[in-house]
Amino acid sequence: MIEVSGLTKAYGPTTVLDGIDFSVGDAQIAAIVGPSGAGKSTLARCINLLERPTGGTISVNGQELTSLSRRDLRAARRQIGTVFQSASLLRRLTAAQNVALPLRYVGLAEDEQRDRVRDLLDRVGLLDRANHYPAQLSGGQRQRVGLARGLALCPSVLLSDEATSGLDPDATRSILRLLMELRDDLGVTILVITHEMDVVRTVADAVAHLDHGRIVEHGAVGDVVRRSDSALSQALLPLPPAPAEGVRRTWRLRYSAPTVDPTWLAQVSRALHSDVAVLAALVEEHGTDQVGRLTVGLDASLDERQVAATFAAQGILASPVVAGVDELERAIA
Ligand SMILES: Nc1ncnc2c1ncn2[C@@H]1O[C@H](COP(=O)(O)OP(=O)(O)OP(=O)(O)O)[C@@H](O)[C@H]1O
Ligand SMILES: [Mg+2]
Repeated sequence: MIEVSGLTKAYGPTTVLDGIDFSVGDAQIAAIVGPSGAGKSTLARCINLLERPTGGTISVNGQELTSLSRRDLRAARRQIGTVFQSASLLRRLTAAQNVALPLRYVGLAEDEQRDRVRDLLDRVGLLDRANHYPAQLSGGQRQRVGLARGLALCPSVLLSDEATSGLDPDATRSILRLLMELRDDLGVTILVITHEMDVVRTVADAVAHLDHGRIVEHGAVGDVVRRSDSALSQALLPLPPAPAEGVRRTWRLRYSAPTVDPTWLAQVSRALHSDVAVLAALVEEHGTDQVGRLTVGLDASLDERQVAATFAAQGILASPVVAGVDELERAIA
């Protein structure tokens, strides 16, 4: 469990984090997204106190870190694993030796180190690369070695800062699979910093949007997508562009209930005595929830209120597209 409260961080006169409150529950994956320079990496570095916050508190598993003595902090940090972009492996050490570093640091016996390194490399699928040097590994393999090293001391909390950026889809998938295994099998609490919305959609239970050092939106991923038309929501599940329309009127639909009857299209058509033309659609499952955005065409003569009410009865929010406004919305998003 990570609990951050009123966290601020300033470098001289520049405030980089401005009163951050958020928490990540046990065995949950939370994602932090936001533009470059928003303060994401600073936040990660503050959580394990690599960077001293200017104000606020940070608790990991109920232990408040900012007030600990140096020695207690060193011990507390062992429950926090980190994996950062480009993995920062030591070039002169093999994959196995890199993974063993934290174990050496805590003084684990040699043979126990060997066993543990084997287990870790096995977990990340790199047992056959144990004696390779970083330069002999692909970017994705280096990231996985970094992840193995981050897991060496069996942390209950893992901070991952852009661990998948720059990786190809296969390498990204294998890292994400590992993160989900850690959450599901070992109950690790994970904070994932990323600019890739696919990563958020694949692994995150919750998401927070950081901008200019503040959290501007946060929530369970399904809720964020379903409940709002914010920039974050649009980024997570973008509305497909609608083709040009003739005599029909274009409507935007958004699932507003967690579950929507899959036969709604037929039901709405019957209720309105009119065909519904599906112009663009994106419907996905998130956990047990469904999220969806569609653009549909309806007979222009239908009563707007009746149309909206008919969709609302299905758990779908419908709004007519007003020419001009649509482009404006897109420009903002
Ligand atoms: N040691 C430092 N001294 C002064 N300013 C810093 C320092 N570290 C970071 N900053 C500033 O803090 C801001 C946030 O940096 P940070 O690295 O947290 O951004 P980020 O959200 O991780 O961006 P990116 O997506 O590019 O990695 C930036 O404007 C950066 O210049
Ligand atoms: Mg960063």
